Amino acid sequence: MFSSESVNQKDLEIIFEAVRFTPSSYNLQPWYFYVGKKGGEFFKKLSKTLMEGNNWAKNVPVLILACYIDESDYGKNYYAQYDLGQTVATLVYQAQDLGYYCHQMADFDHQKAKEIIKEKTKILGESLPWEKLAIMKKLKKKLLRLMQNQNQEKKKFLRFFKFLNFIDLFPKK
Ligand SMILES: Cc1cc2nc3c(=O)[nH]c(=O)nc-3n(C[C@H](O)[C@H](O)[C@H](O)COP(=O)(O)O)c2cc1C
Repeated sequence: MFSSESVNQKDLEIIFEAVRFTPSSYNLQPWYFYVGKKGGEFFKKLSKTLMEGNNWAKNVPVLILACYIDESDYGKNYYAQYDLGQTVATLVYQAQDLGYYCHQMADFDHQKAKEIIKEKTKILGESLPWEKLAIMKKLKKKLLRLMQNQNQEKKKFLRFFKFLNFIDLFPKK
C-alpha cells in the first residue's frame, strides 16, 4: 500500500536533476516527463487513464507520465526507448535513495494520456515536442523538393532559410 503523504517539492527537483544527468544516444535526451501531484487537475486526469488493475494508484501522492520521442534532426532515433528506460531507472534509484518507492506501470490508456498532454500543453500555449518535429520534417521535405528544382527565386528562398539557421536541415552534398 502506498502512503498518500505528499512528496516534497525539493525532493522532486533532486529526482529530476538526476534524470537530467542520464546519458543518452547523441545526447538527444529524448525523454519528456509530466508530473501530476495528488489534488491537482493533471493528476486527476492522468489517474483516469489507469486500467482497472492499477486503480490502487489513484491514491499515490505523485503520478509521473514518462514519454519519449524517436524523431530527431538526424532522422529516426532508434535508441529513444533505451534512453527513456535508462532515465526511468535513474529516477527510481534517486527516489529510492531519498526514501520513496516507485512502481512502474504500463497498463494505462496511452491514447487518452496523449490527449491529456495535448490539452495541457495547449493551455500552456506550447506545442508538443513531437508536433514541433513534425513541422520541421514537413518543412525539410518542402525545401528538399525545392532544391531539386532550383531557379533563382527558389535559391533566394533557400538562402533565407540557411540564414535562419536551418542549415542542418540540408543534406551535406
Ligand atoms: C515497464 C513496466 C511496466 C509495468 N506495468 C505494471 C502495471 O501496469 N501494473 C503493475 O501493478 N505493475 C507494473 N509493473 C511492475 C512490475 O510488475 C514490478 O516491477 C514487478 O512485479 C516487481 O515488483 P516490485 O517492483 O514491487 O519489486 C511494471 C513494471 C515495468 C518495468
